[in-house]
Amino acid sequence: HHNKGKLPVIWLETSDSGDNNIAFMNTTYPYLNQIFTDMIDLIYSNTFMAAQGRDALSLVEDTLSNYYGKFTLVVEGAIPTKDGGIYNVIARTRRGPITALEAVTRLGEAAEFVVAIGTCASFGGVSSAAPNVTGSVGVSKVLKRRVINVSGCPVNPDWFVGTLAHLLMYGEPELDELNRPKLFYGHTVHQHCQRRSYFDKKDFAEKLGDIECMFSQGCTGPRTGSDCPYRQWINHVSWPVKVNTPCIGCTNRDFPDGSAPFFTP
Ligand code: SF4
Ligand code: F3S
Repeated sequence: HHNKGKLPVIWLETSDSGDNNIAFMNTTYPYLNQIFTDMIDLIYSNTFMAAQGRDALSLVEDTLSNYYGKFTLVVEGAIPTKDGGIYNVIARTRRGPITALEAVTRLGEAAEFVVAIGTCASFGGVSSAAPNVTGSVGVSKVLKRRVINVSGCPVNPDWFVGTLAHLLMYGEPELDELNRPKLFYGHTVHQHCQRRSYFDKKDFAEKLGDIECMFSQGCTGPRTGSDCPYRQWINHVSWPVKVNTPCIGCTNRDFPDGSAPFFTP
């Protein structure tokens, strides 16, 4: 329904490691320049833009009045909620700090679509791992509306760019029970794993580095939804199991606490 133009985007980076915007820059189909020229109009991004201070903040205010209900809010990172959200401040003004909690709440209510990029934004992820002293949560926990979760630690650029492309051309994609696009998360890693024949024969690796199935080494592939085995990473050339690393469940709602300690059956 946006077929006449680009998707207006406000991208807020909150509490995360920045891994998702780096992964995003690895996009190859299409390349980053084409995304910026043809797909999205990146109005505000505290990570990518050159504008600073008051100039930057006024872009957000302009968007709220000019694109109300028409822009896409991308959130990268979890939202600290403890002590009024003070553990993540995106700007300081004369009226006081603007917390990530406040910005995401305000922009989230005004956006047409809200997209959580990465596992922190989707479910809290590493930023909300025990003991979670900042009370960090995923974006959907602070908004009373649907959030499209594009989880992964980091996200595969295709999952995110594919979601944006879908929003631009067809609107909301079909989502799974965790509100993730089924297109990318609809099958488990285990379902298409290149070591699946070993699993089926109960032929398990005795140690990391062996070529057999790594279920014995704590692989969470059987309960992790993602298309890693066939989409792969870094220009689609490799993925964890191919380099002898068990899947640690980075797309899961309970990552990382539910997978820790890693590499342990
Ligand atoms: Fe399944 Fe993991 Fe074994 Fe692959 S290595 S077959 S994902 S348990
Ligand atoms: Fe993550 Fe497992 Fe893929 S750890 S990168 S979902 S193989």
